[in-house]
Amino acid sequence: MMQVQAIVLGNDWVNRRYKHMSVYAPQVAGLCQAGQFFHIRCSDDVTPLLRRPMSIYRYEPERGEVHFLYHVKGQGTQWLAARKPGDAVDLFGPLGRGFWIRPGWRRILVLARGVGLATLAPVARMAQEQGIGTIAVLSARTAEDVLSKDEMERFGARVMVVLDEDGTSEVAAVERLVREVVERERVDALFTCGSRRLTRLLQRVARDTGLPGQVALEENMGCGLGMCFCCVRPFWRGGERVNLRVCADGPVFDLSEVLEA
Ligand SMILES: Cc1cc2nc3c(=O)[nH]c(=O)nc-3n(C[C@H](O)[C@H](O)[C@H](O)COP(=O)(O)OP(=O)(O)OC[C@H]3O[C@@H](n4cnc5c(N)ncnc54)[C@H](O)[C@@H]3O)c2cc1C
Ligand code: FES
Repeated sequence: MMQVQAIVLGNDWVNRRYKHMSVYAPQVAGLCQAGQFFHIRCSDDVTPLLRRPMSIYRYEPERGEVHFLYHVKGQGTQWLAARKPGDAVDLFGPLGRGFWIRPGWRRILVLARGVGLATLAPVARMAQEQGIGTIAVLSARTAEDVLSKDEMERFGARVMVVLDEDGTSEVAAVERLVREVVERERVDALFTCGSRRLTRLLQRVARDTGLPGQVALEENMGCGLGMCFCCVRPFWRGGERVNLRVCADGPVFDLSEVLEA
């Protein structure tokens, strides 16, 4: 991990709520793994004091680039949204434990919504690099809110979209779809991020099918480094309930370990 002054290359709206920011940061672009995050300083001043955690959406080591896809929401992300090409942004990272892939898997299924659409995009790349196919089920409110589809397809993922506006994203319908895909395509592992309902859904599927799974969690963070304990939540590990830090022990956890999803 390093602290670097990245230079903004682009920072454009992709829909009404999300922006795509690419930065030139050659010192860290080659260190990135899917599921890891950067803690980004969102101020030239003392407020907001805390950095904001953002998943790595894309990394291009050959070009020295790191990309983020972020929801413009509060004070920090509004500051980020105002950055222009040529501006500097202070990044700290990459941080945390990313997704892992086991040799021998042939196909994985990723199920994502909200911020998870950004976090899971580089999983398709990681899978393709290891000769593993990806099936992605992307959930969103409307067709306009679907993010990462092109990014996942770029790395060979077969993408299915489910939407609130046509009722296809209801939990029961998505669970039927996921169970059908798992059965028909002989999926080897399950991945999710960005929704408690989808995490619980995938936990049920994993339990019934015996498939391994991983989930990237989101938790409000202070230091992002494992020192302040503000991101602690309970997990089930080694047959007992333990408290772990999402920033340093995760943000990616075994699906079976997550309590209170
Ligand atoms: C590991 C990780 C990866 C993330 N990746 C992405 C991403 O790729 N794209 C994206 O749009 N968002 C992502 N988020 C959520 C993002 O960090 C928050 O939306 C952002 O911090 C909000 O900052 P704000 O100042 O605009 O909002 P405010 O609501 O003003 O933030 C106030 C405080 O709450 C914290 N906070 C608020 N919401 C969240 C949240 N959902 N998660 C964590 N901290 C929060 C902020 O860090 C800040 O300290 C991620 C969160 C985590 C933990
Ligand atoms: S944010 Fe400080 S320990 Fe996780």
